[in-house]
Amino acid sequence: MRSFQADRIHEANSFPSIRLGSFPSLNIIKSRTAARFDQHKAYTFQAVSTMVSDKDVPVVLVAGATGRVGRKVVNLLLSRSKDPDDKLPELKVKALARDTDKAARVLPSDENVEVIKCDLGDASAVARCCKGVDAVIWCATGFSDSSDSSLLNKLLGVARLKLTPRQSIDIAGLSQIGKLLEGQASHPDLPGPRVVMCSSAAVTRPTWNEEKKMRYEGAADIPIVRLNPLGILDVKRDGEQALRSSGVSYAIVRPCGLNDNWPSGRAVFSQGDIAVGRINREDVAQLLVQVLLEKDAQGKTFECVALPGYPSPKSCSLQLARLKLDGDASISNIDVLDAQYALLQQLVPGETMQPNQLAMGQTYEQLDSGQVGRLGKRGQERPPLARTD
Ligand SMILES: NC(=O)c1ccc[n+]([C@@H]2O[C@H](COP(=O)([O-])OP(=O)(O)OC[C@H]3O[C@@H](n4cnc5c(N)ncnc54)[C@H](OP(=O)(O)O)[C@@H]3O)[C@@H](O)[C@H]2O)c1
Repeated sequence: MRSFQADRIHEANSFPSIRLGSFPSLNIIKSRTAARFDQHKAYTFQAVSTMVSDKDVPVVLVAGATGRVGRKVVNLLLSRSKDPDDKLPELKVKALARDTDKAARVLPSDENVEVIKCDLGDASAVARCCKGVDAVIWCATGFSDSSDSSLLNKLLGVARLKLTPRQSIDIAGLSQIGKLLEGQASHPDLPGPRVVMCSSAAVTRPTWNEEKKMRYEGAADIPIVRLNPLGILDVKRDGEQALRSSGVSYAIVRPCGLNDNWPSGRAVFSQGDIAVGRINREDVAQLLVQVLLEKDAQGKTFECVALPGYPSPKSCSLQLARLKLDGDASISNIDVLDAQYALLQQLVPGETMQPNQLAMGQTYEQLDSGQVGRLGKRGQERPPLARTD
């Protein structure tokens, strides 16, 4: 097993976390920062952060860095920023983790990544971690079906969601991070939104009226919406709104069912929360990182599925430019929704192509072959701690 550089794991929960000995040179940092300030007048001078913070390069914070999407985001940020042919600038990563042993197992040891121990439910720790941060990719959730999360952490997440949903990281954490970054000028090398949130398709569907649920049955009567465990869709919807209300520039990416057995493919975007389908976590991570560069992603919320067999575009600028800003009335126009629904239902995986016949925990392939899913028959599923496949 790889040994993780212990001096790169810092505690945000116990102040101070600054290790001057690990700074290359404070003088160099200051002069480089001043040079950057002259070059880009709009760029706000920020205090030297708690990490090895050379403000010549942007700092990207990843919340939920040990998660299955989060760790891929960290890897991609590092690998893409080192690739001279890639548009992603050289950058540094602050990887937030509540479990640093897990971080040591799943995150790379790299001079450009610093792991910081931080519970996202601890507001003062989050505030310390956000100092000197230029952008955030949010991949965390209090409701995890990951087999590599500790049972205690899973239960804590469940308890927070059930007992105090407004204090869950999905709402309070996002709101706080949005407010902390709001008003700061963006780093010139990262023209996209300051906060990129990995949310979920289907978050609005529990609020649809009966008429809309019947009209778009193949989107509304799917297991995650039917069962909505612990009200997670409502919590994530409120988390989205908390981020929008924070005033920060944001983009909200809503992947459909995450399934790592689904081959990579072109991410297809839609709006109006009508999409059903699959995408693997690598494709989601690619998209979350790409969005940091995309000015046209700002202020937008969109769903995504992946179409295997179609290559990923070199850039998603064109796709994003065609999307509407949040609040644009045409997103909920019924003719627009009808047309999108008709198209997107044709992209549903499998042969049966009736997602409303799925049980939670059942795959489209199991439905096609008449097999029962891992949580039991439709309508009799055992209460899941897990999300759908
Ligand atoms: N499953 C699906 O089909 C599906 C579909 C669409 C969207 N999504 C969304 O996609 C996102 C990423 O999913 P995923 O599979 O990568 O999730 P995951 O593997 O469960 O990762 C969740 C991350 O959040 C972290 N976390 C939870 N509570 C925390 C706290 N209090 N403090 C610090 N960190 C905390 C976890 O830390 P630990 O590593 O310590 O547990 C983990 O790193 C989630 O927001 C999910 O809701 C899922």
